[in-house]
Amino acid sequence: MKQQTPTNIEVQRKQELLNRIAPGLLTWYDKSRRSLPWREEPTPHRVWVSEIMLQQTRVEAVKPYFARFMERLPDIEALAEVDDDELLKLWEGLGYYSRARNLKAAAQQIVTEYGGEMPSDYRELLKLKGIGSYTAGAVSSIAFKQPNPAVDGNVLRVLARMECFGESIGSDKVKKRFREALRDIYPTGECGAFTSALMELGETVCTVGTPSCARCPVAAYCAAHRCGEEALYPVLPEKKPRRIENRRVLLLLCGDMCAVQRRADTGLLASMWELPNDLLPDAPETGEPCGEAVHIFSHVEWHMRGYIVRCREKLPGYVWVTRAEREALAMPTAFRYYRKKLEEMGY
Ligand code: ADE
Repeated sequence: MKQQTPTNIEVQRKQELLNRIAPGLLTWYDKSRRSLPWREEPTPHRVWVSEIMLQQTRVEAVKPYFARFMERLPDIEALAEVDDDELLKLWEGLGYYSRARNLKAAAQQIVTEYGGEMPSDYRELLKLKGIGSYTAGAVSSIAFKQPNPAVDGNVLRVLARMECFGESIGSDKVKKRFREALRDIYPTGECGAFTSALMELGETVCTVGTPSCARCPVAAYCAAHRCGEEALYPVLPEKKPRRIENRRVLLLLCGDMCAVQRRADTGLLASMWELPNDLLPDAPETGEPCGEAVHIFSHVEWHMRGYIVRCREKLPGYVWVTRAEREALAMPTAFRYYRKKLEEMGY
């Protein structure tokens, strides 16, 4: 008989451990799971849209957006046909707006290449715009009940603690390793529940910071819990500091109108509407100061100073809008403070 190398034995031991967690986790999920809109009716369209929304946004924040989105765009065909501005307006406040644009592009792919039906095959899902291995795994397991893991930050945290995983969890290599380990233990007939259970455990029990191990259905198999070292895992990748941009925001007013402009169709906040703003110049300040605000994006921070400028004429180069017109435009949350200022002044 072929001698097993220690590495193989090690791998096998870890698989056995993972195998043992599945039943307890499923029983726990069955009785503890939160009722969430996308869970109660897990159609491919609903699962897909919810997973994209949830990628950078908390469950509670997503709920109202999801409801509104589904009311307006209840199926893939409607999503493929939606006007870009309306789509951005539906997404306004969720951030990472390329997610919305990718959703529409993928819906168009589904209509032209797959007859309007979301493909169920994992490899086919990966061909759709904006769908990577996480979303493909989530859609394929939750909506199509196939044994494909969805490894997000929550799931990585759970698994890293289970085995006191000492490497940083940031790399694709590590995600792939966990994905493959999980794929082998997916319980037949319960693939969707297993994916959701792992996410649910990470979000509600095995949380960032201090987890609630007393409520954990698989604490008995958790190496970090056994050593009292939950706080040491997962090892997170080092983060680069964000670039800081000092920006001047202009509230240009004329009659009952204010000035807005559209951003370029690529880059940060592509195609969104905004209040005129620029990198804070050294030149003397214009207008009447109306407060400072900070907005944090993933790679950059905007430190903004606002100025009200009352104009005798509508300056060229801007789009001048009434309050109602402005409210219909998709304008990022970064400008929330100044939008509120405008409202207070009746604009
Ligand atoms: N986080 C990511 N996906 C989720 C889902 N489907 N349900 C709850 N939380 C999630």
